[in-house]
Parts: sequence; C-alpha cells; structure tokens
Amino acid sequence: MKKSRLKILGIIGDPISHSLSPIMHNSALAHLKLPYLYMPFHVVPDKLDEFFKTFKKRNIHGLNVTIPHKQAVIPYMDSLTKQASLIGAVNTIIVKNKKLIGDNTDAQGYLESLAKQSQFDLHGKRVILLGAGGAARAIAIGLNQASEVLILNRTLAKAIDLAQELNFKFKQTHFAAYSLTKNNPQFWKHADLLINTTSMGMKNKKLADLPLKFLSKQALVSDIVYTPLETSLLKQAKKLGLKTHPGWGMLLYQGALSFKKWTGHEAPLEVMKKNLLEALKN
Ligand code: ATR
Repeated sequence: MKKSRLKILGIIGDPISHSLSPIMHNSALAHLKLPYLYMPFHVVPDKLDEFFKTFKKRNIHGLNVTIPHKQAVIPYMDSLTKQASLIGAVNTIIVKNKKLIGDNTDAQGYLESLAKQSQFDLHGKRVILLGAGGAARAIAIGLNQASEVLILNRTLAKAIDLAQELNFKFKQTHFAAYSLTKNNPQFWKHADLLINTTSMGMKNKKLADLPLKFLSKQALVSDIVYTPLETSLLKQAKKLGLKTHPGWGMLLYQGALSFKKWTGHEAPLEVMKKNLLEALKN
C-alpha cells in the first residue's frame, strides 16, 4: 500500500507520546486492510490555532482529541453533535465534505464497556461518581438512565455546579453533590455502582480513605484510570469480594465508536483489545 494513498487519522494532544490510541487504531486498520494511517500529533496549546488554520491542507480524515484540547477545539468546529454539546467537549472530529464535525464518544464508550464487559444495566440504579472534572462530566452525561447519581468531589463547589447542571438537563435522574470525605455511609450501602473518575490511584498515587467496606456485595466498582492496569481502588474492591470494571474498557469502546464513525466499518474489538492490553502491560 503506497503511503501517499493513505488517508490520515490521528490524535492531537499535549503530551501525546504516551497515547495508546495509535497502537489500538493502527492494529484495527491493518487487520481490516483499510487505507488509513493513524498518527499522533503533538500540538501545544499555543499552536492549536495554527494547526486548525492549516488543517484542510493536511488530508486528515478524522481525529481524536485529548488533554488539554477537548474544549479548546470547539471554536474550530463547523458543527457539534448532540453528545459533544451536552458534554461540552470534543474527543472525536469527523471531516465530512471539508467540514469539521465535533463529536464525543466518551459517554457512550463508557456505557458500552460497562454493559459488554460487566453486563451492567444502568436502568434505575444508584451510582456514586467520584470526581467532578472533565472526565466525570463526560461520564455523568451517560448516566441519565440511573435513578440517582451522587457526585462526591474533593472541591464540593464543583460537584454542586455539576449536579445542578445535570438536574436541569436530565429530569429523570436525581443528581446530588457531596464532599469526597464528608459523606454518609448510607449512600455507600445502597449504591449499585461506584465510578472513580479522579486521578487518585494513577501511577500509584495514594488513594483517599474511601469507605468501600460499606458497599453491598452486589456493587460494581469501576475505575476509569488504566495505568496501572489494576488500580489500588480495584485491588481493594477485589479484596472485599466486590465485582470490578477496569479503566481500559472505556478507552477501547470510545475508540471503537470513533473508528466506526471515520471508516464506516465495525471496529475489530478483539484485535484492538489484544494490542491495547499488550501495550498497557509493557
Ligand atoms: P479530568 O479531565 O481527568 O477529569 P480534571 O478536570 O482536572 O481532570 O479533574 C480532576 C478530578 O480529580 C477532580 O474532580 C479533582 O478534584 P478537585 O475538583 O477537588 O480538584 C479530582 N482529584 C485529583 N486529584 C485528587 C486527589 N488527590 N484526591 C481527590 N480528588 C482528586
């Protein structure tokens, strides 16, 4: 396959060298023998404007967007999908008739990974969401099938703002906000799902003292952090006999959804998963 005929896909972020998306997508593209190449683009915030000004010369067919650009790219989009508008951030750009469509596959990717990897149906469930940053926001948008979502955050004001906004947007789910450390064990007793969206536990950072022991034995503990593969939260949950849902699932499924949007082909999930896990283990 001649390189010049390849359509370009990629990911922009700063930093970007650690990203596992190129491995995941290139393995899928090679498996299906599709004429695309997925490249990492290191774009520092100061160069974002220049990147989009020269975008149309670059033969780019689609992009993922990661930290710190998920919100900053919005002014460069010709339109946004409903998911991107609701989340207020873009993780996928689709180029159609030279127009840039800003989309977001994070919420749906998370939900699919929950359903397919852990057979978890959110309908009518009670959820504890740790964190109120960008990742929490993206996931919370997908939780509108749950009956109740308790947002626990170190900075209470951010949790309150997020809960207020979500209560306004989604009438069928009750969102409440509490401080991460000062909250009631009763919440934990009745929760069906605990989701960590904070960077606690990442690269073995110390986990806050969470009252996991109050969770019921049926509860599922989910961590969107995937380095290390088994975070201290998941280890602790396993020790208590609780079911766990690993963070790489969201990465895999959000990627698979973007892949389908760009190429029109169903993503080869097993190939992507194998390559992703191999890269994560190394
Ligand atoms: P992201 O886009 O990954 O969600 P973010 O928007 O910076 O990143 O949000 C980080 C989240 O992790 C926040 O909820 C943050 O809590 P604060 O709002 O109080 O800052 C949470 N967080 C980060 N480090 C934490 C720690 N050591 N303990 C508790 N919460 C932490």
